[in-house]
Amino acid sequence: MKPFKFYLVTDTHYFEPSLGCSGKAYDDYTKNEMYCLAEASSIVKATVDEIIRDTEIDTVIIPGDLSKNGEKQSHYGFIRELNRLKDAGKKVYVITAGHDFNDNPHGYVGEEHVPVEPTSFDELFGLYYDFGLSDALAIDKQTHSYVAEVAEGIRMIAFNCDSDRSNKGCIDERLQAWAKEQIDKAKADGCFIFCINHYPIIPSVPLFDLIGDAHIKEWRQVASFLADNGVNLALTGHMHIQSINEFYSDAGNKFVDICTSILVGSPGKYRKITIEDENTVIAESINVPEFDWDKGGMTTEEYFDDRAVWAAPNRIRRALSGDSFLKKKATKIFNTNTFAQLGRKLCIGVPKEIRDKKFAEFTGELARDVFKGDQPYVKGTPIYTVFAKVFKRFRPIIKIVEKKLTKNGIRPDLTDMLLNTIGNNKGWSDNNATIKLK
Ligand SMILES: [Fe+2]
Ligand SMILES: [Fe+2]
Repeated sequence: MKPFKFYLVTDTHYFEPSLGCSGKAYDDYTKNEMYCLAEASSIVKATVDEIIRDTEIDTVIIPGDLSKNGEKQSHYGFIRELNRLKDAGKKVYVITAGHDFNDNPHGYVGEEHVPVEPTSFDELFGLYYDFGLSDALAIDKQTHSYVAEVAEGIRMIAFNCDSDRSNKGCIDERLQAWAKEQIDKAKADGCFIFCINHYPIIPSVPLFDLIGDAHIKEWRQVASFLADNGVNLALTGHMHIQSINEFYSDAGNKFVDICTSILVGSPGKYRKITIEDENTVIAESINVPEFDWDKGGMTTEEYFDDRAVWAAPNRIRRALSGDSFLKKKATKIFNTNTFAQLGRKLCIGVPKEIRDKKFAEFTGELARDVFKGDQPYVKGTPIYTVFAKVFKRFRPIIKIVEKKLTKNGIRPDLTDMLLNTIGNNKGWSDNNATIKLK
């Protein structure tokens, strides 16, 4: 097979600005969000322009969450952008996901959430037919999953795990049986085969294993099924995070999941992927380009970083809001305490480099850094040291929680999971890596 190079862009969450994206209702919504809404159409347009300028790569793959929330006008706007790619000679393959159909989407006008025209799951088949389905060798009508030969001798199973006809985030037994047939056909035809899916198949960071919809359901079974049948690579989105992970089935087969960030907000990356041969994949990350928006003198990356840093603590403040004494106290501590003050309360020594850092501010930086991948808080750093001490101090409580979280005989090691979530200790980069599939 010849090397195959393509762009992987995901979670474009396009929003048609004329539906309304200003005023109090919008401000209330956006202050907790790491992703952009009013800016989304401009970001997508700038990225499409950038991809069109690259005359070397002719394929773009987009695994879901194309619109903000299934607004019909957002789909029309996004499809206009896809058509620009097509007119420039690009082949475009998409799948849709949970944010692409909705009975009740809305715009933001003044203080109001104003209902706008919705999109049903059934309608998506026709809307996006020209972007993958029309090229398909096989289609699973129930979920709109399909198989296409994306380059000579290279096939792609585009799983749609987020339809309204199966469990959310699920590649169930029926869909696996359909996939098995397609994989066998590809092999009989001498093709390499990989897959795309909206949900990550492997949890992007260890702690996401504990969050039900942060990964495909029964992910170990699904990853093993794919690896044992000769599909060793998945390209995914949904969690808006940059990560590359591997997993081995009981039979010893390797499975690799490359999860890519949201396009329209922090961390704002897309990827250039090269399938070099049956065993080698190169993933490169690209920052979202400058886009037409008053960013107050900031670059796109600074603008997204800034957003993450204020949105993440706001989410925590929202979770802590309430009139009870405990909630008020917790809010005050969260808003005002430095690491040194928290350390004194927990009887933990804090390294001097971070003693004066406000904890609320740090939660924003942590969210920014975890979602960017290549998380910097590895062993030996002050933050790692503090977190390790906190977990040691609360070991008896953590043991009880771990027992409660034990599932199918697998007992989570919460300390290990947390420390490997805040620091990338995997030995390879989440952003730019050459990966072996076997
Ligand atoms: Fe998304
Ligand atoms: Fe999603």
